Amino acid sequence: MNENKTNINWYPGHMAKTKRQIQEDLKLIDVVIELLDARIPRASQNPDIAEYVKNKKRLIVLNKADLANDQETEKWIAYFKQKGIKAIAVDANQGRGINQVEKIILDMMQDTIIENAAKGRIRKTIRVMILGIPNVGKSSFINRISKKTTMEVGNRPGVTRQKQWIRIGNQIELLDTPGVLWPKLGSDEVGLNLSFTGSIKDDVIDKEEVAFYLVKYLMNNYKEEFKAKYKFEESEISSPEGSQNYYLEIMELIGRKRGALISGGRVDNLKVSGIILDEFRSGKIGKITLEKVN
Ligand code: G4P
Repeated sequence: MNENKTNINWYPGHMAKTKRQIQEDLKLIDVVIELLDARIPRASQNPDIAEYVKNKKRLIVLNKADLANDQETEKWIAYFKQKGIKAIAVDANQGRGINQVEKIILDMMQDTIIENAAKGRIRKTIRVMILGIPNVGKSSFINRISKKTTMEVGNRPGVTRQKQWIRIGNQIELLDTPGVLWPKLGSDEVGLNLSFTGSIKDDVIDKEEVAFYLVKYLMNNYKEEFKAKYKFEESEISSPEGSQNYYLEIMELIGRKRGALISGGRVDNLKVSGIILDEFRSGKIGKITLEKVN
């Protein structure tokens, strides 16, 4: 394993086509909901987002807030507020926070509605689109928000079936196909954060390498939670603290504790890597934010 370079090879296809489609769809849209992963608000943000949302109202939704550290999420909300962007935290799996979205959109659009009315242009609906990177929870969010009062307006006779709009309340329509944006793998850190959280699929990463870096990160940032979860003490590790072997030894220890063994009693590194990644991703190690505001 090379300590300084990760080997994430990830080349999404059809980027230009997707971008064109999103830009086409955006012509119909008043408000863009930018869905980010509350654990990695930087890595899960598409760097071209400002270009996409030009001339649109923008709401940042920090999804998977159930998996992130609550204080850090509050700091992110304050950070975006300072930049003049409204942000809220939700959990699209359980539905927490979803109810706020409709009200916020109406509030955001209030001035425009009044202005339009003054000009005699009374548009009945506010049209909304979700943008976000793969796996951030776009489908879950749409399912959640649409369950409240769903009605597929596009299914009425005479209405084109090409675009499906989901009605939310009386005034809002949500485009049912979200825009899938690509994250930018500008640095190893971004690539790792996207891998830790599962936005980069395991079949294109070296799972053992990614788990190694996750163990390293957690031992350096959430040591107590990590030790408590896997029930070990630092005195059980013989390698010098912070060395590559130190983290490998921890992984081996976890493998033994979990019975992730292959013939001859050796630890199955791939299996233990899978255990650590799965447990991190499902929140079993704790509510962990990987990217802090500062
Ligand atoms: P996408 O459309 O943006 O690609 O994301 P999608 O909704 O498919 O969600 C990706 C994964 O993230 C799903 O898990 C989903 O359940 C999970 N997820 C979405 N929102 C939240 C959230 O707020 N909190 C948590 N904890 N998880 C969330 P999966 O493992 O792919 O499938 P499954 O667990 O639903 O079977």
